Amino acid sequence: MGQQAPRYLSGIQPSGQLHLGNYFGAIRQHIINQDNAFYFLANYHALTTVHDPAALRQHTFEAATTYLALGLDPERATLFRQSDVPEVAELTWLLSTVAGMGLLERAVSFKEKKDKGINASVGLFTYPILMAADILIYDSDVVPVGSDQVQHLEMTRDMAQGFNALYGETFKLPTYELGTPVPVPGIDGQKMSKSYGNTIPIFLRGKDLKKRLLAIETDSTPLEDPKNPDACNVFALYRLFATPDQQLDMRAKYAAGHYGYGHAKLALLDLITAHFSNAWDRYDHLLTHPSQVEDALQLGASRARPIARATLDRARTACGL
Ligand code: TRP
Repeated sequence: MGQQAPRYLSGIQPSGQLHLGNYFGAIRQHIINQDNAFYFLANYHALTTVHDPAALRQHTFEAATTYLALGLDPERATLFRQSDVPEVAELTWLLSTVAGMGLLERAVSFKEKKDKGINASVGLFTYPILMAADILIYDSDVVPVGSDQVQHLEMTRDMAQGFNALYGETFKLPTYELGTPVPVPGIDGQKMSKSYGNTIPIFLRGKDLKKRLLAIETDSTPLEDPKNPDACNVFALYRLFATPDQQLDMRAKYAAGHYGYGHAKLALLDLITAHFSNAWDRYDHLLTHPSQVEDALQLGASRARPIARATLDRARTACGL
């Protein structure tokens, strides 16, 4: 184990169309760090909020297609559906017998989801145990996370230590890597999020994309006046795609006046189009060749499953099954 490159692992909840917030917040980094990485579509987790079978299947498939279209190479990374390795559900049970109620009751994400009005099933409450099983079953070294998931990682370490203390060294203790937060505003200027209905989906393009970009909220500074790029949602999105020179150039246009937000939106449209046009083409290709997506997922599952089986067997033996 010690000689190999560290194993990165992350789960992606397939709960809807992936957007620029997901892209800059996680997906882009996942693709860059794909060598030796394990990425899975967390469809067991999604069941805590999605109860429409066709939608769940569709979202899971689209999330996989998104990763492949954006450059995930199924030979370099192991991409799979969580539910294709059902061993993780059995490990969840074993961990649930050592996880303290108090630990779960302190979970911030459960409280937040409940406050948002999500119907609190037992599964929503035990979500962190399934997540711990995800991480521990693949002997993961590093889990790249956003700040909202740090508590889950601490709980994972807690469960692993609790199990190891009772039954002897069984699980590797994972660490996490906190990504630098990239602020991505939605079209209304709030954080881009599906629940605010303000997203720009990665695979929106052409006329639909243009329409969406033209709907970005801006202030009413007259066309001829100078404008402040640092107070502008269009510029905040533009800079995510622009080179430093392009950013300086755009800043100069804002400062000079006679440059409208409509112009800036069209410049943004050009940059987004240039950035994603290859991915859009690959996405279209994969949508019409779904067996290529399925093959990639099967390849991933065939690599992930033996590792999961071995860890589960270790845990079963350790606790007396
Ligand atoms: N809870 C994570 C999220 O909402 C998704 C997830 C499930 C996950 N299992 C995981 C992330 C294991 C990292 C590791 O984003």
